[in-house]
Amino acid sequence: MNDQGFSEETLEWESRIVLSSMSMTDLPEAVEIERTTIYSPWSGEMFQKEIEARNPGLKTFRLKNRLVGYFCFWKVLNEAHLLNLALHADFRGKGLGRFMMRNLEQTCKEMEISKILLEVAETNYVAIKLYKNSGFFKVGIRKRFYQETGDDAILMEKRLQRC
Ligand SMILES: CC(C)(COP(=O)(O)OP(=O)(O)OC[C@H]1O[C@@H](n2cnc3c(N)ncnc32)[C@H](O)[C@@H]1OP(=O)(O)O)[C@@H](O)C(=O)NCCC(=O)NCCS
Repeated sequence: MNDQGFSEETLEWESRIVLSSMSMTDLPEAVEIERTTIYSPWSGEMFQKEIEARNPGLKTFRLKNRLVGYFCFWKVLNEAHLLNLALHADFRGKGLGRFMMRNLEQTCKEMEISKILLEVAETNYVAIKLYKNSGFFKVGIRKRFYQETGDDAILMEKRLQRC
């Protein structure tokens, strides 16, 4: 860990990954990533709507010319509602999830957001672990939230400290 609490792994990604707003040219790669996710995958139109609305909570992570992941949230008053967060299958399990969560928090703080809320499928153990390790707490359950699998959603939240 360095003096800001970043692990070596996070610092390694920090130097190689470029964070930017999603644009229309990212769409084919984003839809390809969504095809590999089980829970409520997004269509190209869903991304397109957010791009056209210039949602500042829609960010991509690129390694050279490859889209490795993205997150999307809506700002509602002082809260962020996380709608999507995913990594390309080739880049999962390498600590990049933690890196994305740090960037999500940083983006939220810059937008004066004080709380992040999300839903995660009860069987999505990797994502649940990632969120718990990132300081999120369970605050409720939505029964049979995911139509494709019939899974319940766990509602989680994290309060952010001011910069
Ligand atoms: C959820 C997702 C972003 C997590 O990213 P990731 O790179 O796989 O996450 P990390 O490597 O940072 O790992 C997160 C934690 O899960 C653990 N983990 C990773 N892969 C695992 C596996 N296959 N089995 C068990 N634990 C695993 C890691 O060890 C880590 O825990 P630790 O910090 O205690 O070591 C990624 O898996 C993904 O894109 N999944 C598909 C989309 C999705 O489900 N999004 C979430 C919607 S709510």
